[in-house]
Amino acid sequence: MKATAKANANIALVKYWGKRDEEKILPMNSSVSMTCDGLETVTTVEFSSMYAKDSVSINGEDMEKDTKNVYAHIEKIRRLAGTKENAKVVSKTNFPVAAGLASSASGFAALTVAACVAAGLKLSQKDLSILARQGSGSASRSLCEGFAVWHKGAKSDGSDSYAESIATKEHWKDFHMLAAIVKETAKKTSSRAGMSQTMKTSPYYRGWLETVEKDIAKIREGINKKDFIAVGSVAEFNALKMHCAMMTTQPPIIYWEPKSVEIIRAVQSWREEGLESYFTMDAGPNVNVMCLKKDEKEITKRLKALGIAKVIACAPGDGARLVKEHLF
Ligand code: PMV
Repeated sequence: MKATAKANANIALVKYWGKRDEEKILPMNSSVSMTCDGLETVTTVEFSSMYAKDSVSINGEDMEKDTKNVYAHIEKIRRLAGTKENAKVVSKTNFPVAAGLASSASGFAALTVAACVAAGLKLSQKDLSILARQGSGSASRSLCEGFAVWHKGAKSDGSDSYAESIATKEHWKDFHMLAAIVKETAKKTSSRAGMSQTMKTSPYYRGWLETVEKDIAKIREGINKKDFIAVGSVAEFNALKMHCAMMTTQPPIIYWEPKSVEIIRAVQSWREEGLESYFTMDAGPNVNVMCLKKDEKEITKRLKALGIAKVIACAPGDGARLVKEHLF
């Protein structure tokens, strides 16, 4: 059977950084994110005896090696469904892959939804989130509409580590995220390697874990009340704490480029002028600027004036879902 799914990337407001189980992808801390309507992956999966082996193509390029565990994820779903047929997977993304813009989140969310249906599995939203998590942690959140929390869970089998929506996309349409693309090339240190290194060697990782639950409580309350300053300031602080732990690993992991710092400084000065904006960054050099819809045009203009050619504006978006048009 053939199925196609669409999923948006998500940007964390409270980050996930560190695993308590590397194989099952179980996080050390819970996290909160916004599903971003402008950062989309569409994936078609077909299981058939016609195919001699599994094949995966992403943005027109055949994926030869399983560097991102995509083939392993297909195998997991095939086993769950109890089928022996091989899969053809074609995927398209409308934003740069592997530049710290959560492409693995939308990628594994779309793959999970499409592959499960194509393999004849009928899973609940919660189980889809659990399965997507095993491809890439942050993918668990891309299943969810609007704003999501990924519960770290406590069980060793991971059955309570899943994401759920805490607010619909309609709840806070004015909360926007502008992805300022500083560099489109792949990062040097993957988040997988970066997390493990941080846990092992950064003296500040403990500080990260000690404060993250408080950040979650504040962000959840801020989303509930649509309090932009509360959400923006806590999200910014949270990202800085994560980067502080990354930078103090041995060897240090510095994802920032000079342009990233320029944007950070600019955002701070805009705020001082009264143009409300905050920044957050993932494991890469791109900077995501949070603002209210009314200020989006002005902030985009200012980011472009700083020499940022590509600014992708996102509003809260849909969770992963099936669509009718197939890619092949
Ligand atoms: O799911 P991964 O392995 O792509 O890790 C994501 C890590 C961060 O983007 C830095 C934080 C997050 O919560 O999305």
